[in-house]
Amino acid sequence: MEVSGKTKVFCVIGNPIEHSLSPIMHNAAFRHLNIDAVYVAFKVEEEALEDAVMGMRSLGICGMNVTMPHKTAIVKYLDETDPAAKFVGAVNTVLNADGKLVGFNTDGVGALRALEENHVKPRGKKFLLLGAGGAGRAIAFQLTQEADELIILNRDANKARVLADALRKRFNKKVIGESLSYNVLKEWIKNVDVLINATSVGMHPNQNETLVEKSLLRPELTVMDIVYDPIETKLLKDAKSVGAKVIYGTEMLVFQGAASFEIWFDRPAPVNVMRESIMERLQARGLGFGR
Ligand SMILES: NC(=O)c1ccc[n+]([C@@H]2O[C@H](COP(=O)([O-])OP(=O)(O)OC[C@H]3O[C@@H](n4cnc5c(N)ncnc54)[C@H](OP(=O)(O)O)[C@@H]3O)[C@@H](O)[C@H]2O)c1
Repeated sequence: MEVSGKTKVFCVIGNPIEHSLSPIMHNAAFRHLNIDAVYVAFKVEEEALEDAVMGMRSLGICGMNVTMPHKTAIVKYLDETDPAAKFVGAVNTVLNADGKLVGFNTDGVGALRALEENHVKPRGKKFLLLGAGGAGRAIAFQLTQEADELIILNRDANKARVLADALRKRFNKKVIGESLSYNVLKEWIKNVDVLINATSVGMHPNQNETLVEKSLLRPELTVMDIVYDPIETKLLKDAKSVGAKVIYGTEMLVFQGAASFEIWFDRPAPVNVMRESIMERLQARGLGFGR
């Protein structure tokens, strides 16, 4: 693709940013669909965030992804936010709609689509979600609307309770928030269809860690881990070994990116091309199955 005066610019901002997979995934999509656009990564220090948002406006950058540490702080510089971003208090996608900057949070819809595309329909099912951090809250917001029942466990129990209360009030569904202790986990896991790890436990360099003892896993359970470094976490290895269905964190990564693409272009994202591009890069980096 030749870059010209008409080429549209998209970007991701964060710090650190060098290892972001978003440029790989979105440029692969642009190339595949012959879209005259480029996607670049910008390292933005915390104190420079407001300037970066002003730069998006003045340079006419069409769309932006936002990653750590700016997901929460960026909200106040935007003109509008969608309901998910408002509830979660964090934005990972910005659309520049003719000068109006609109913030979205695609983590929840990305997780939901990862489940659905892997043949797990949330309707009528009971979910156990570990983690009430940024990603956990986004997933809980989306899941509550679809699932039968949601149990949220978090190390800081208060965060889980506050989140569950807010979701119950908003959607009038069965949502429970409790502490992430062994005994509580052991009781709840017996009664659910799907377990999702939305904590950072198991992520490199602590890839031998898991919050769920293997003896608590069973073949009828679906287990999704949103950690994608390594691709196959200890939790997913254990789940696979007992015969449970597993869904990798790379699936959510692809579908949250696809949701950003669809917000910017209002057309279906080429998810297979996006998936292939990041799997290739992760495996080249040695982040594959058992690093
Ligand atoms: N696949 C994807 O597309 C995708 C998207 C977003 C994030 N992620 C991954 O998801 C993970 C969480 O991201 P985030 O943005 O939600 O981070 P975050 O806001 O910092 O939240 C971290 C979560 O992990 C919990 N936690 C951390 N260490 C723990 C421990 N030792 N024991 C129990 N719980 C622990 C925290 O509990 P406390 O509240 O008690 O501290 C909190 O619930 C990261 O690994 C990130 O890379 C993946």
